[in-house]
Amino acid sequence: MIIQNQKDVTTAVLSELQRSDNARFKEIMSALVRHLHDFAREVKLTEQEFQAAVNYIVQIGKHTNETHNEGVLMSGALGFSTLICLLNNGDNGQTETSQNLLGPFWREYSPVTENGGSIVRSPTPGPALFVNAWFKDKTGRPIAGATVDVWQSSTEGYYENQDPVQADMNLRGKFTTDKDGHISFRSVKPAGYPIPVDGPVGALLRKQGRHNMRPAHLHFLADKAGFKTLVSQVYAPDDPNLETDSQFGVTRHLIGDFVRQDSGTPPAPDVAAPWYTLDYTFTMEPGQSRLPRPPITDKARGDRPQIERLRQRPAAA
Ligand SMILES: [Fe+2]
Repeated sequence: MIIQNQKDVTTAVLSELQRSDNARFKEIMSALVRHLHDFAREVKLTEQEFQAAVNYIVQIGKHTNETHNEGVLMSGALGFSTLICLLNNGDNGQTETSQNLLGPFWREYSPVTENGGSIVRSPTPGPALFVNAWFKDKTGRPIAGATVDVWQSSTEGYYENQDPVQADMNLRGKFTTDKDGHISFRSVKPAGYPIPVDGPVGALLRKQGRHNMRPAHLHFLADKAGFKTLVSQVYAPDDPNLETDSQFGVTRHLIGDFVRQDSGTPPAPDVAAPWYTLDYTFTMEPGQSRLPRPPITDKARGDRPQIERLRQRPAAA
């Protein structure tokens, strides 16, 4: 159609979408166009602001490579990833769920590790942590034979793929649940870490006066045919940034019971008090097993990056 005024543009774009023979594509794109055009009308977007927005999207792409995914980081910083997670799990948002964000640091092909083994693969500071995790179905029955990937950052705040100082695949492991649906492993107590702020996500956080920390957590990805692949994180309750996670990932259900142990017989001869234990039970929902696409595929080389830590601005009264 020939466009005469601003209202006609929306009509024209929606009308062209009708040519698609894919109903779901049509539904999604039509809603996107309606909301996008209405958004511009609502805020009266100026030409300069529009040009800045386009450049911003270009920068998200330019800041993404084999070892870093700015798109995932941006989605998290806007709370969009958590919204999608909660809309699609826990009986479609009705109940609590073990599902959480995948994050940008999952790698495929973690080293297969025996239950009880360690995922510390190069010298890593921090108190020892001994984890017992159970995987159950919705009726509480154990899920045996599930493959469980585990990954976490070092106490210095880096995933191994970001950090040339750590061994390849340090603090990552792949386990298989036993007949009780159980895995166990040794690691170090995770610490909170800053997300990179040298790209568009950093610009967004600075503008909003937000810090860039993620509270300490362990990542899990459990997979077994007949169940929806479980992507989860368990958060440490003593982290000061639990309520202001820069990625909005913390749900009450996933705050774990990390217990400090100051006395008794240490679980390994080289361990001295204090050490920590974590017991956690995950629920897997029935559904399709499907591994996500790994957000990154390679390990950083060269020098250890210095990631700036942004200070949080107090909220305006
Ligand atoms: Fe993480």
